[in-house]
Amino acid sequence: MTADTLLKAEGIHKSFGSTPALSGASLSITAGELVAVMGPSGSGKSTLLHCLAGILRPEQGSIDYQGLELTTSADSRLSALRRSDFGFLFQFGQLVPELSCLENVALPLRLNGMRRRPAEERAAEWLERTDVADLAAKRPGEISGGQGQRVGVARALVTQPKVVFADEPTGALDSLNGERVMRLLAGAARDSGTAVVLVTHESRVAAYADREVVVRDGRTRDLTAAI
Ligand SMILES: Nc1ncnc2c1ncn2[C@@H]1O[C@H](COP(=O)(O)OP(=O)(O)OP(=O)(O)O)[C@@H](O)[C@H]1O
Ligand SMILES: [Mg+2]
Repeated sequence: MTADTLLKAEGIHKSFGSTPALSGASLSITAGELVAVMGPSGSGKSTLLHCLAGILRPEQGSIDYQGLELTTSADSRLSALRRSDFGFLFQFGQLVPELSCLENVALPLRLNGMRRRPAEERAAEWLERTDVADLAAKRPGEISGGQGQRVGVARALVTQPKVVFADEPTGALDSLNGERVMRLLAGAARDSGTAVVLVTHESRVAAYADREVVVRDGRTRDLTAAI
């Protein structure tokens, strides 16, 4: 493990009942890099992302995050880690419908114990950075999909996480909005030294990555390493 390796998964096996989703997947993430995870539908990309983020627990293999073995850590330790060190961005935004955009972005900070005023001030700065400051008071149901994903980028990065896990963040967007979200995500992550694990089907989106990894039948192949 090199000095700046942040997260390293080796030999991951994960099944759902009798369906094997991952059968020996490995991936290591360096601080600040943007890694694209590609591969056919059903190959295990989302499952790998969820294992890396400590959401799913694999049956076999190891996942080291800064000296912590995620596969054997207590659920409470994993959820604390997700709140403090990880950010998340999904295909359909998954903003809380009852909260305003500002409150949605402030939420991860509030869950980490920050008081309302400073949390909302920082959230407002992030809405500004992702070009949606004018939507602060609106609810997610009142904005477009592309706007929602820009709010999602702000929410994923507001805690200045070490890693953002993004599962097809542009999958529901047209190419123009997809490009805009990727520019924001890649730019903001680079500025704050955040690593991004990005699952995508689109090579145009993967082009933003420093490195591409392909998942096929539950196994990983590092394209850059193979060259
Ligand atoms: N919660 C679940 N219960 C049962 N089977 C599951 C579950 N999640 C995933 N699977 C199965 O595990 C395999 C891998 O699924 P996964 O969602 O990781 O694929 P994916 O590469 O993300 O696909 P897609 O590109 O369509 O999102 C598939 O066979 C899928 O049907
Ligand atoms: Mg998936």
